[in-house]
Amino acid sequence: MITRAPIAVIIFCAVIIQAVDKSNFKTCSQSGFCKRQRDHKPAESQYRALLDAVEIGPSAIKVHLVNKQNSAKLLLEVFALQDNTVRVKINDLEPNKLRYEIPVGDVLVQEPQQASLQVHSKDSSHMKLKVQDNTVILYASPFHMDFLSSDTPVMSLNSQGLLKYEQYRSKSKNEAAEDKPVDGVDENPGEEQEKEEENTAEEPDMWEETFKTHQDSKPYGPSSVGMDISFPGFEFVYGIPEHADDLALKSTKDTDPYRLYNLDVFEYELNNPMALYGSVPYMIAHNEEKSVGVFWQNAAETWIDIRSNTADRGMFSKLVDFVKGDDKIPQVDTHWFSESGIIDMFIMLGPQPKDVFRQYGLLTGTTPLPPLFALAYHQCRWNYNDEHDVASVDAGFDEHDIPVDVIWLDIEHTDGRRYFTWDAHKFPHSDEMIRNVSAKGRKMVTIVDPHIKKDSNYFICQQFQDRDLFIKNKDDSIYDGWCWPGSSYYPDFTDPKVREFWASKFHTDEYKGSTNDLHIWNDMNEPSVFNGPEVTMHKDAKHMNGWEHRDVHNVYGLYVHRATYEGIKLRGGNNHRPFVLSRAFYAGSQRYGAVWTGDNKADWTHLKISMPMLLTLNLVGLTQSGADVGGFFTNPEPELLTRWYQAASYQPFFRAHAHLDTRRREPWLQPPDHKQVTREAIRTRYRLLPYWYTVFQENEATGMPVMRPLWVEFPKEKETFRIEDTFMIGSSLLVRPVTDAGMTSVSVYLPGQDQVWYDRDTWQMKNGGQQVLVNVNLQKAKNMLSSQIPVFQRGGSIIPQKTRIRRSSILMADDPYTLIVALDKKNALSSFSWKTDFLSFISKRQQGHAKGDLYEDDYYSFRYKNGQYIKRRFTFANSKLSSSDIHSGGISMKSNAWIERVIVVGYAQHPSSVGLSTGSKQSDLSFDYDSERRVLTIRKPGININEDFTITVQ
Ligand code: GLC
Repeated sequence: MITRAPIAVIIFCAVIIQAVDKSNFKTCSQSGFCKRQRDHKPAESQYRALLDAVEIGPSAIKVHLVNKQNSAKLLLEVFALQDNTVRVKINDLEPNKLRYEIPVGDVLVQEPQQASLQVHSKDSSHMKLKVQDNTVILYASPFHMDFLSSDTPVMSLNSQGLLKYEQYRSKSKNEAAEDKPVDGVDENPGEEQEKEEENTAEEPDMWEETFKTHQDSKPYGPSSVGMDISFPGFEFVYGIPEHADDLALKSTKDTDPYRLYNLDVFEYELNNPMALYGSVPYMIAHNEEKSVGVFWQNAAETWIDIRSNTADRGMFSKLVDFVKGDDKIPQVDTHWFSESGIIDMFIMLGPQPKDVFRQYGLLTGTTPLPPLFALAYHQCRWNYNDEHDVASVDAGFDEHDIPVDVIWLDIEHTDGRRYFTWDAHKFPHSDEMIRNVSAKGRKMVTIVDPHIKKDSNYFICQQFQDRDLFIKNKDDSIYDGWCWPGSSYYPDFTDPKVREFWASKFHTDEYKGSTNDLHIWNDMNEPSVFNGPEVTMHKDAKHMNGWEHRDVHNVYGLYVHRATYEGIKLRGGNNHRPFVLSRAFYAGSQRYGAVWTGDNKADWTHLKISMPMLLTLNLVGLTQSGADVGGFFTNPEPELLTRWYQAASYQPFFRAHAHLDTRRREPWLQPPDHKQVTREAIRTRYRLLPYWYTVFQENEATGMPVMRPLWVEFPKEKETFRIEDTFMIGSSLLVRPVTDAGMTSVSVYLPGQDQVWYDRDTWQMKNGGQQVLVNVNLQKAKNMLSSQIPVFQRGGSIIPQKTRIRRSSILMADDPYTLIVALDKKNALSSFSWKTDFLSFISKRQQGHAKGDLYEDDYYSFRYKNGQYIKRRFTFANSKLSSSDIHSGGISMKSNAWIERVIVVGYAQHPSSVGLSTGSKQSDLSFDYDSERRVLTIRKPGININEDFTITVQ
């Protein structure tokens, strides 16, 4: 029996007033299965693959694996999938009890499309398979598998012999005896069972586990699965969020493994592998030649150990090797283990970063293009107190000429934390309030958490209870946990019925006082249970079809997010793009919207860690992600807040948020100088919205991250593999936020030996392949149009932007574009040497080149899915800028936006004339040329964005 109420109050208070208490969260040695799996050391695998009896199909093979010690049998299936992907599944051959598998369509978008698989050779010792350009070799004994991408080994499974699969079984006689009356009769485990038990040592924690005051009853006993995955030739691995840690994953030789278990960690610590709010068991390995990925599809608690033969070697052995001239081939060895479920791996064989992103996108989906407002600036705090407060915050932005798109309401807007309701005194006219805000093109967001206040007078609680939609305890009573409203029930979102019912609650007829301009924030969906073990749900709680919470924990938050997304979509007649923010996530959550990094702190270290955390989320598909601007807990000093705005204006989801106990910090409350810079940072975001929107569209179509580590764009440049303080937005903008106090200059690495970069503030050109020092002095930032954090445009790119900043993004929809054409190195004067003859200079100049895309649609509906959008490609070559239609089915939308200016940076010579031709029309255009900065400004081409045109510079 678990008693919750008294502890609840204590824990609840602790949550409010204390800093992180590590003892609330398990270490590996406090988790039975983690200990057992981690104790399994590299050795020859106990498993043998029975290759003589392999079943071969057109795109899959089936092989039995036999454990040499206890004769236990497993079924190995290898599937060839489209696009250089292989699936490897290991399950019981004859299960005593079915193991949980995430239903297809929930994490995987659909049943993956199979490809053809050829058996290249086969004997009883090994079998060689061909899958497109790749080779898979399966060795019989000891069982292991190698993966080669165009003949280069890139991955191996079980080469360390760590496959460990705990099959469901009954309690052994010894263990069971403790629970039985002296004369009790063993309920006949069966002969096979006994045989198995001879070889399976009973260990504490197998049948019951205690953590602090919590007991996990483990009615089905041990059920973990584990396996090693090695990456020969690789030194760098990335991914497996969420951790407040570096971008390049570290060896866990001297720490706990990286843990994936969705948890509400209060004031989380940085630079450690502790679990946080979300889990994506997906890792990418990258070197100068190849990129590969592996997705471990398992919804249970998972830990990942990492060893690296380069990082783990001490200085001394490195020195010895260096003296001996012995260049070790790098290798990363990883060990993955989950508490239940099966082994189900997707191996993406790249071979380049863009291929791996596409391959993962095919499996789990990409972020649907967000409505434009979602990419603009969001203003949140816990809490905007009442309607008057909302109106004055809304007006404050106008008064201070700062754009904003969304105003958010946290839990206090409700009637006693009953979601889908309003506090009648503070928000008596909520629909009118929303309408006032949306009159300026803005939106509102309210929080709707998944814990439902236990209250028979609360219609949501009543309706869900009447329909039997809540999660149960193992004795079938309703699971009751403590969260913001006090005693609460939790809908079983793993059940499609529950999701459907939940989704129906967002209709404006049901959610009284809401309008279609209200969008939603799902918080606490790990789920957070203040009085539960590790602040979450008991693992033996029961979901649909009797699955234990243990089996589905990491995917619960995704289901909450999904149900809400579907509700908002339904509310808009399936034609308005929803915006839903979620704190918990799993692989595939990107299909339902945005996530953020939870309760960070107003501290420079938290600003700094937001970069690697968001880069990692972007690598695993969660591209619409951000961190609370300013830090959630405590009060940022003005400089920190200003730097935070500057950084976040270049992060995908841009929202200021703060804890209830913090001082108000709307941007205009900053001291005047800081206010100016903050305002400029937000306005710069709006200027670049056409670019952000285009990059998000590319993300939906190709899976390419929005916020990219430098190595994604410069995959052959090893110098970039560890860089996390500098990143790219799309392929054209490089950003290096300032993340330390008192900085007047920062050093930035500009990648690419053949690449040039243009400082977006000065248009000064810099060569790639070097560190440059950039002035970031905030004191000198007055009266400037500069961002004052290093932002560079890549030579060879064209970025569309808008210069008229209005109160909200949608009000800028018809405004004209400015194109910034940044020429590549071939055109740059700095590449000119007087030794080079004139003709060669001319020919070089003519090669000056740049290109870029622009995507536009109605910014809010799903009509773009039916082709109602505009996609243009701008190309600058041979001193001609041309615009062509790259819409796959021709133009099918009209736009009122036109091009008002073209700025060509890095243009080497004063032109004599600039001419425009559009189909029938020819005309001269006026221009300015700044020879010192080499910037050519072409004025008023005045062409509608739909039109094809050529601008010729002579
Ligand atoms: C959680 C969220 C935070 C929110 C608070 C109150 O701590 O992470 O963003 O403000 O709950 O709802």
